[in-house]
Amino acid sequence: MTSSLISSRSTPAKATEQNAKASPEFADKLAETQALLQRAAANFTPVTQASSLGAEDVVITHLINSLQLNISVFVLETGALHTETLALLERTQAHSRAPIQIFRPVAESVIQFVRDKGQDAMYQSIAMRKECCGVRKMEPLTRALHGQKAWITGLRQEQSSTRAEVPMLDDSEVATKDLYKFNPLARWTWGDVWHYIATNQVDYNPLHDQFFPSIGCAPCTRAISLGEAFRAGRWWWEDEAAKECGLHVKK
Ligand code: ADX
Ligand code: SF4
Repeated sequence: MTSSLISSRSTPAKATEQNAKASPEFADKLAETQALLQRAAANFTPVTQASSLGAEDVVITHLINSLQLNISVFVLETGALHTETLALLERTQAHSRAPIQIFRPVAESVIQFVRDKGQDAMYQSIAMRKECCGVRKMEPLTRALHGQKAWITGLRQEQSSTRAEVPMLDDSEVATKDLYKFNPLARWTWGDVWHYIATNQVDYNPLHDQFFPSIGCAPCTRAISLGEAFRAGRWWWEDEAAKECGLHVKK
C-alpha cells in the first residue's frame, strides 16, 4: 500500500478486509466442521456451544443456525464484558434460531470478592486473578455444563503454543467428567475464520476492527500491536504460561 493510500484512510480497515483469506484447503475444512457439528447434534445430546461472542464463536453459532442443529448456545456473562460484547449478545439473542442461554456469576460472590480484594485485584497477583476467574467464569461454567453430554468451543490450534495440539474431538475428560468436547474449528486459520465471516456476512464484535483478535473481560483484554502474538492482549501483564482462565485447563 502506498503512503498516500495509508494517509487517505481515516478509519482502520474492517477486520473482514484485514483478515479474510481462505487457506487452500478451506472447502475441505468447512465440510469437516459441518460434519462434526452434525455428528455432535445427532449423537451427543444434549450438547451446547460455549460462546464468548468472539470471531470463532460467531462462526460456529452461524453454522449451528444455518444447519438447523439441535444445539443450544451459552454465554458466560461475567459482569465485566465490554459494552460492544453485550450489544452483540443482545443482537444474537434477538436473531439466533438456536436458544441462547446466559450464565452469570453468583452476585453475592462477586460482591464479596470485590469487597475483600478490590475491583482491580486481578492485576495484583496471578492467584487473585484466578480467583476472580473462578467466581466470574468457572462457577457459572459448571452450571452451564451440568447435565450436558458434550460442549463445543472455538479453540484453534493456531491460537497459541498451548493450543497447538487441540483435537477436533477431545475425549480426555470423559472418564472424569463424562463430557466430550468438540473443537470444530481446531484446524482453521484466522484467515479461514474471517473468510467465513465475510462470505456469510456474519455479525461480529466491532472490537475486532480495533485490533482485538482475542476478546475476554474488559479489564483483562487490550488491543495488540503489529507483530504481537494472537493472545498478547489477554492478561498482558502475566507470563505466557499463566494465560488461561481455567475454562480449558485440564486438571
Ligand atoms: S479463555 O479461556 O482464554 O477465556 P478464549 O477467549 O480463547 O478462552 O476462548 C476460547 C473458547 O472458550 C471460546 O471459543 C469459547 O468456546 C469459550 N469461551 C471463552 N469465553 C467464554 C465466555 N465468556 N462464555 C462462553 N464461552 C467462552
Ligand atoms: Fe476477572 Fe479478568 Fe478473569 Fe474476567 S478475565 S473473570 S475480569 S480476572
